[in-house]
Amino acid sequence: MAETAGTIKTEYERLGEGTPLLLAWYEGHRRAFPWREEPTPYRIWISEIMLQQTRIEAALPYFERFMAALPTVAALAEAGEERLMKLWEGLGYYSRARNLQKAAKILMAEYGGELPASYERLLSLPGIGEYTAGAIASMAYGLPVPAVDGNVLRVSARLTNDEGDITRAPVKKRLREAVCAMLPPDRPGDFNQAIMELGETICLPNTLPLCGDCPLREVCRGRLSGRPERLPVRAEKKARRVEQRTVLIVTAAGRVLLRRREDKGLLAGLWELPSAEGWLSPEEAAGIAAGWGARPETAEPVGPGKHIFSHIEWHMQGVLLHTPPFSPPERFLWADARQLREETALPSAFRTYSSRLGQWLERSMESKE
Ligand code: ADE
Repeated sequence: MAETAGTIKTEYERLGEGTPLLLAWYEGHRRAFPWREEPTPYRIWISEIMLQQTRIEAALPYFERFMAALPTVAALAEAGEERLMKLWEGLGYYSRARNLQKAAKILMAEYGGELPASYERLLSLPGIGEYTAGAIASMAYGLPVPAVDGNVLRVSARLTNDEGDITRAPVKKRLREAVCAMLPPDRPGDFNQAIMELGETICLPNTLPLCGDCPLREVCRGRLSGRPERLPVRAEKKARRVEQRTVLIVTAAGRVLLRRREDKGLLAGLWELPSAEGWLSPEEAAGIAAGWGARPETAEPVGPGKHIFSHIEWHMQGVLLHTPPFSPPERFLWADARQLREETALPSAFRTYSSRLGQWLERSMESKE
């Protein structure tokens, strides 16, 4: 027996030895993000919500713009819907922004405009799940709770060489427990950010992790197994549903026709370039626009576009239609270039076409009688 009774270490104790190594590594490698330099509860909250589904580099300009426009919980609670959606334009998952505002209103009504320093109360707010509650509680208030996102699950699965399917609740639970065993009560915020940072920069997904640079290499059972990159194990995701759509870009005298989406479902309540199911010919698209009151003079195919949502893929074809101005039905809006720039938010699903709108709107002015 290599170890005598009394010196046998539990797996968790061994992991715990990694904690000071991880913290020391973090001191030398932490990246200077704006929510770290000025870590108020509000800034941490907004950043964590943005960072769900969005890469850090992509979220940075959004974060700065959001903070400049809505610097307090009160400002967020009072912001107009269009303004909020405009600030979120391009980040996707717009329900995140709506939930932010719902929560801000509750904070104003019930918590004096402050985020509560309690994991359970944070968890009770709209849009705040276990991960975000843990992140805010630990980073803003120093409460000893973990913040387990996908990066941290991966690190934990590798550290413990756990071959369980991480989409299953019992597996997630034990991976979370392993993280809890490492959590230092005096520095939970630094620890949580350190282990995320490790996942983002060293313990990389879908490729060979950089074990040679890892501060936890000596305690990592995945590394000792020789093939840490095979972890975590994850059940195959269900294939996304593919939808074919035709996007109608209806222009008239420097304006484009937008439609407000249904209040429920995908991109609920947001402005869109109106679209129809299936891939339509230009003539068929013109027929649909005529149903809204248009009298299309030209109908021109403008190519394919694709957008991937979490469960659906849109495979689009665009048709550019030019018409004299007309008065459209309810839920439609004519928007000019300034409104598109400053007021209305168009989801990135339409980026293929919205990126060319400026040029099409100019063309539609030239053909104005
Ligand atoms: N990803 C999400 N939140 C993060 C944070 N606070 N630090 C590092 N990576 C993160």
